[in-house]
Amino acid sequence: MFPKASLLSLALLTVGALGQQVGTQQSETHPKLSWSKCAAGGSCTTQQGSVVLDSNWRWLHSTKDTTNCYTGNTWDTTLCPNGITCAQNCALDGADYSGTYGITTSGNSLSLKFVTKGPYSTNIGSRVYLMDTSDSKYQMFNVLNQEFTFDVDMSRLPCGLNGALYFVSMDADGGMAKSTNNKAGAKYGTGYCDTQCPHDLKFINGVANSEGWEPSDNDQNAGKGKYGTCCNEMDIWEANMNGAAVTPHVCRGTSGGQTQCSGIDCGDSPDHRYDGLCDKDGCDFNSFRMGDTSFLGPGKTVNTNSKITVVTQFLTSTNTTSGTLKEIRRLYVQNGQVIQNSKTKISGMSSYDSITDAFCNAQKQAFGDTNSFEDRGGMAAMGQAFAKGMVLVMSLWDDHEAGMLWLDSNYPLDKSPSTPGVARGACDAASGDPKTVESQHGDATVVFSNIKFGPIGSTYAH
Ligand SMILES: *[C@@H]1O[C@H](CO)[C@@H](O)[C@H](O)[C@H]1NC(C)=O
Repeated sequence: MFPKASLLSLALLTVGALGQQVGTQQSETHPKLSWSKCAAGGSCTTQQGSVVLDSNWRWLHSTKDTTNCYTGNTWDTTLCPNGITCAQNCALDGADYSGTYGITTSGNSLSLKFVTKGPYSTNIGSRVYLMDTSDSKYQMFNVLNQEFTFDVDMSRLPCGLNGALYFVSMDADGGMAKSTNNKAGAKYGTGYCDTQCPHDLKFINGVANSEGWEPSDNDQNAGKGKYGTCCNEMDIWEANMNGAAVTPHVCRGTSGGQTQCSGIDCGDSPDHRYDGLCDKDGCDFNSFRMGDTSFLGPGKTVNTNSKITVVTQFLTSTNTTSGTLKEIRRLYVQNGQVIQNSKTKISGMSSYDSITDAFCNAQKQAFGDTNSFEDRGGMAAMGQAFAKGMVLVMSLWDDHEAGMLWLDSNYPLDKSPSTPGVARGACDAASGDPKTVESQHGDATVVFSNIKFGPIGSTYAH
């Protein structure tokens, strides 16, 4: 995954709250989302889960009244003279999921709408986490020797957008136990982290990230604080109707979990991209980038004009949960047909159709990319992250840093598109400009449904 951004400012409602206190102006009711746990042989049982909106999108106001702690992309310096005081003075409030954020669920289906004009704000994109059946903590997944499957409808998801489904090594309680000033926890969507070590989080480890905050110059709802928040990330699906990538990313020195970074450890500037804790590039399998430009897209072999089923298998060295992660396999099902993943067609590379350390090494070499995935432990490290449990994230976002060109167009733009690895999708270089997508594609929507999890071969008809 590449840079992320987004969010929302709320003007006024009335008051309730926890900044990381809890507000009470709007009750917090998680939209229900059912999913299935399957057993060998294919019998599945329904799990009643729910989704919670990330805390960064929420109204943040004084614990005493409705005064905003954060408006647009700036902090109130009276309520937030420093990060700790801010966390004590400010409360996160409940969310109107459909009215403010364009998030709706029905049965096993979740719909995320890109731009939602509510009574107090215009919301851009969203990010939600799957809660466990108790509705108090995030559902933790260990996919080793298992298979994870879902359906996705991207027929209304154009170039420049990313409807993402992925796992990150967040704490199950949203970091509540390890941070005294975080009274909100998973119920309010706290504790996010990923391999980009994002600086746009308003709170990290129960402290406001207000120190050194720089409002974004092209995003009126976002900014960056001094600190970033890092952890392992397994991108099962980053996609729009014109392209898709599956990408493991790992970090070192984080004991596998969420870790605050500052300075070089965050890997921020281009000069230090590969010096940080985490592997920002990951080891991506994007069929178009790997040489099969006719595999996935509107009217292609995997036809994104209609719903597709995405199956991802995590094979280990011993074919047991305790083995070392060796291979991530992808296949698709559409109209009752199982479609095998595309094969790589890159000069100098053997033909691969799955992610293994051998694939990653060959791809980095063929494309001349820095191998920051293997440097941080590669597939085995990704497996260790899952052994500790990872949280399921679903999000819809546009890209204020790189226009999503790394997913669906040519990237970087200063290299010839004929250089191996540069062409990643058929989208135009200008298509992902946030101004354009936000003004012209506000109705863009991604629908994730029918999530199934179980032993290899148990989650799809074959
Ligand atoms: C794991 O399963 C695969 C596929 O069935 C098989 O080829 C392989 O030999 C098995 N590995 C072990 C260690 O049992």
